[in-house]
Amino acid sequence: MGGIHTNSRVLSGMRPTGRLHLGHYHGVLKNWVKLQQEFECFFFVADWHALTTHYEDSHIIADSVWDMVIDWLAAGVNPGLAQLFIQSQVPEHAELHLLLSMVTPLGWLERVPSYKDQQDKLRERDLATYGFLGYPLLQSADILIYGADKVPVGEDQVAHVELTREIARRFNHLFGREPGFEAAAEAAIKKMGKKNARLYRELLKRYQQQGDHEALGVAQALLAEQQNLAITDLERLLGYLEGGGRVILTEPEALLTPASKMPGLDGQKMSKSYNNTITLREAPDNVREKLRTMPTDPARVRRTDPGNPDICPVWQLHQVYSGDEVKGIVREGCTTAGIGCLDCKQYIVDSVLQELEPIQERAREFEQDPGRVRAIISEGSAAARDVARKSLEEVRQAMGLSYR
Ligand code: TRP
Ligand code: SF4
Repeated sequence: MGGIHTNSRVLSGMRPTGRLHLGHYHGVLKNWVKLQQEFECFFFVADWHALTTHYEDSHIIADSVWDMVIDWLAAGVNPGLAQLFIQSQVPEHAELHLLLSMVTPLGWLERVPSYKDQQDKLRERDLATYGFLGYPLLQSADILIYGADKVPVGEDQVAHVELTREIARRFNHLFGREPGFEAAAEAAIKKMGKKNARLYRELLKRYQQQGDHEALGVAQALLAEQQNLAITDLERLLGYLEGGGRVILTEPEALLTPASKMPGLDGQKMSKSYNNTITLREAPDNVREKLRTMPTDPARVRRTDPGNPDICPVWQLHQVYSGDEVKGIVREGCTTAGIGCLDCKQYIVDSVLQELEPIQERAREFEQDPGRVRAIISEGSAAARDVARKSLEEVRQAMGLSYR
């Protein structure tokens, strides 16, 4: 794992706390569907993370897990392209979390902004727990155990990825420097053969003495091509490049998901807590009803009153769903009272139903075949465990725990 992966690996998780809606679709799932085409992807149900805030009503988690997986599949997440799994089915996450907890300063966790924010926001829940303080560290374990270098997350999660980078650095610093590191690195260089050894040394010098970042990249690629080096030697030489010890844990990078512009039925951001959502499996009649009863420009009382789209939540939906032509018709018709609000909303009704139709069709297929959903998850979990086990072996070895 670690630095030896030159091909990008993407990892992301979602907490199972209820039905997914159009906000999740536009904000997260469409992005996953795109990423799965480009990179090796691992997507998982963060059930333990849900437990840190919902431990008192854990049945919500159990109810949501399979529905959430069905929603992912319905939205086009493809188990042939991405590994889908459930966090608690890969208990290695918990072991890494425990081991990392030994070297994580309390202050680092207390300073993560979500710690205080969530406690303030979820006042009705008692979040003064050990598990909740450790939430971001569990997330670090999720990421580091797969050597993931790309983590698609929203703005609110960037601090967690930043913490993960710091944890990786601290771990590598503490456990990547065995006695005699330099001698071991020099011996490893020789194993590459004369030509590559000379090239490596030259690139090392260019990076370390002249700060040439391109040389660093070339050297990393050179190492990735070496067939005859053991993993520990590779890690030594990767770490040696950057002037540290072995790179055992890879520092990930946040792939910031653009803030979802998906407006809810009231013009606020679509969110379950605002009760303004259209779920991915919303019955078409409900979709029509919810959109028909949506608030509009409050000054437009009668059909003959002109309206102002700029203060109307329906207009925000046109930004998501309509092309320039329809937007032109709507703006003109609204401001001149040429069209009624129901006509205006009909465009949105049609677009949303059209968007949901294939999603719901796929959802029905999976609903009718729960065995298939379970098989997808058990295959994904097995694949994830294979990677996770290897990572843990290395971590244990680096920490001097390989006697177990
Ligand atoms: N904390 C994330 C959220 O609330 C979910 C999550 C858990 C996650 N582990 C992760 C996301 C690892 C990315 C990577 O959305
Ligand atoms: Fe809103 Fe459309 Fe009615 Fe204008 S016509 S007020 S944009 S719903």
